[in-house]
Amino acid sequence: MSIRNWTGKLVLIAAIIAPSLPSTSARSQTPRSPVAPRREVVAAVVQEAYDKFRNDNNGKNADYIPYLAKVDSKLFGIAIVTTDNQVITKGDVTYSFSIQSISKVYTEALAMEALGADAVFEKIGSEPTGRPFNSPVAVVDMKTHTGNPYVNAGAIATTSLISGKDANEKWNKILNFYSRAAGEKLSLIDEVYKSEAATNTGNKALSMLLAKYDRIYADPFESVDIYTKQCSVGVNATQLARMGATLANNGINPATGEQVIKAEDVPYILSTMMMAGLYDGSGGWAWRVGLPAKSGVGGGIVAIVPGKGAIAVFAPPLDEAGNSVKAQEVIDYVSQKLNYNLYSPLSVGWK
Ligand code: DON
Repeated sequence: MSIRNWTGKLVLIAAIIAPSLPSTSARSQTPRSPVAPRREVVAAVVQEAYDKFRNDNNGKNADYIPYLAKVDSKLFGIAIVTTDNQVITKGDVTYSFSIQSISKVYTEALAMEALGADAVFEKIGSEPTGRPFNSPVAVVDMKTHTGNPYVNAGAIATTSLISGKDANEKWNKILNFYSRAAGEKLSLIDEVYKSEAATNTGNKALSMLLAKYDRIYADPFESVDIYTKQCSVGVNATQLARMGATLANNGINPATGEQVIKAEDVPYILSTMMMAGLYDGSGGWAWRVGLPAKSGVGGGIVAIVPGKGAIAVFAPPLDEAGNSVKAQEVIDYVSQKLNYNLYSPLSVGWK
């Protein structure tokens, strides 16, 4: 038999046995989404969005946390991680910024892991407040007082649900959970923590107000301190996109293959993101973009495209509600170009 024939046979044998061979990488053990997008298509749209919005100077860095006012407002990074672990990036995607309110999504998920979704719904709720994220008026006015896990009051109450023998154990549980969602070890940006801890009188007031209504479940000031730490965790845009892709991938981190969040909890989390992820900008966001997303005053936003992946954008200048201007623009643009809006039949292939 000629070499050519042998080569052909070997290729054929390899093709037949390949699917049953044990895999060496965790990633190949992850069930692959049948709807993950194609790299070339996504990369072209990311490039377009980057070019279109990079010179937009609208918005202003948050300054009520002194550290955030000093972050370079020109930083701009876009990262997409798909459910089959393709990573598409542009711009400043290795700069570590504070996760801020985006942390609230993962503390909500951790509380659900421990207590179950029903208990979290009962103890916190999932109603939009229609008020700024730090509003004491919402705590007084709303029947639940906590509102939802993404306004500061609801978030501090959610953090208070995380159990541990002391504050340190609770904090380590939270940090470890975020790291598993990101697929790599995350850490505290100490300067952000110190800056926020020195100025967070408003959050301390919210925690005492929650105590008045019996809607905080551990020591109020200890809970504020752990919450302040969780907001000060550093992530870059790629890590944030991977945290989002874990949700898009039914709770399984697409890089490590680990089931980090229970699959049954994912729809609850995404619905909360849709209702309250951009605070009092959430209604306009759902109207325009139709994707569950979460913002943070550090300048990050992550949006989830269920089954397909997540897009994270980092650009510090914020609008009045506290949401990154450029991040909203980029996600809106990419989502329209790629038909990601979940309320549109085009999102499931309707032509
Ligand atoms: O508690 C605060 O005010 C901040 N650590 C987080 C607020 C936040 O990110 C709201 N975002 N849009």
